[in-house]
Amino acid sequence: MNDQNLPSYLDQSEAVRARFDRINQRETILEVRGLGKRYRSPQGETEALRGIDFSVRRREFVCVIGPSGCGKSTLIRILAGLEDHTSGDVLLDGKPVTGPGQDRGMVFQGYSLFPWLTVKKNVMFGPQMNGRSHDEAERDARTWLELVGLDKFADAYPHQLSGGMRQRVAIARALVNQPRILLMDEPFGALDAQTRSKMQSHLIDIWKNIDVTVLFITHDLDEAIYLADRILVLKAHPGEVQEVIEVSVPRPRSPGQFNSSEFRATKARLEELIHPAPEPLPEDEQAVKPHMIRFTDVHDNVE
Ligand SMILES: Nc1ncnc2c1ncn2[C@@H]1O[C@H](COP(=O)(O)OP(=O)(O)O)[C@@H](O)[C@H]1O
Ligand SMILES: [Mg+2]
Repeated sequence: MNDQNLPSYLDQSEAVRARFDRINQRETILEVRGLGKRYRSPQGETEALRGIDFSVRRREFVCVIGPSGCGKSTLIRILAGLEDHTSGDVLLDGKPVTGPGQDRGMVFQGYSLFPWLTVKKNVMFGPQMNGRSHDEAERDARTWLELVGLDKFADAYPHQLSGGMRQRVAIARALVNQPRILLMDEPFGALDAQTRSKMQSHLIDIWKNIDVTVLFITHDLDEAIYLADRILVLKAHPGEVQEVIEVSVPRPRSPGQFNSSEFRATKARLEELIHPAPEPLPEDEQAVKPHMIRFTDVHDNVE
């Protein structure tokens, strides 16, 4: 990106600097140190993650981006306690993560609701498993369904809802246990562009209103910039942290900022990291012209 008019993504205004100073004063919720993961299978060994170091502050919104196969889902599954790691440490509130727990809420891309339960019962399921009485669980479910704007659909079944609504139920179901951190793996990846954009704004509204930290995986650069305080950029083979970017786009965010100079500068930097400029082709390869076949009358008037 050679646009001379773009500020460096590092040129931060005083207001933005002050925002990060405030974030950095908060306690650390999640700490990942020297994290490594190797998968062993009869076909051989894959080093999915190597030497991953980062920490997340309380109520921070961190996005993770990187090419397909760089270990994003592996990372989030390890943080969720659904997968073991091979080396390093994962600490949540200073305590090692050794398995799944109520202190972490998960939202995946695929709809993970129980199809045979109503919306309300889907949300009640976690609290009831954790020993809340039926009435307490029902009260909790109503509160969270109201927060995601679905209280009117409490008695509907998942198949009666749109994709966006189902993901809102998934968010309510993850938040009802009042986790310290919400772990989201491409949660809006299957939604159409318009619904996705609404869900992003909706998630920011929820996050602003409750004490929760978010780690959000996406491969959509606009989505990461729109949502995040910081973006962790991973590279593949093996999955390693390439860079951590502080997003200088001011909050509150709005879709109108997509064309702001801070937004474009951040996107340009992410694109540089994710899609580095290809090596120029050797001269003899440049000379090879693709073979063109015309299917239309050469006298047509297509310009
Ligand atoms: N259960 C598994 N067994 C073996 N290899 C796996 C397994 N899960 C993921 N991998 C490999 O680990 C690497 C990272 O995968 P993944 O975490 O799914 O990446 P991403 O979510 O960034 O696309 C890939 O090379 C993938 O093939
Ligand atoms: Mg993945």
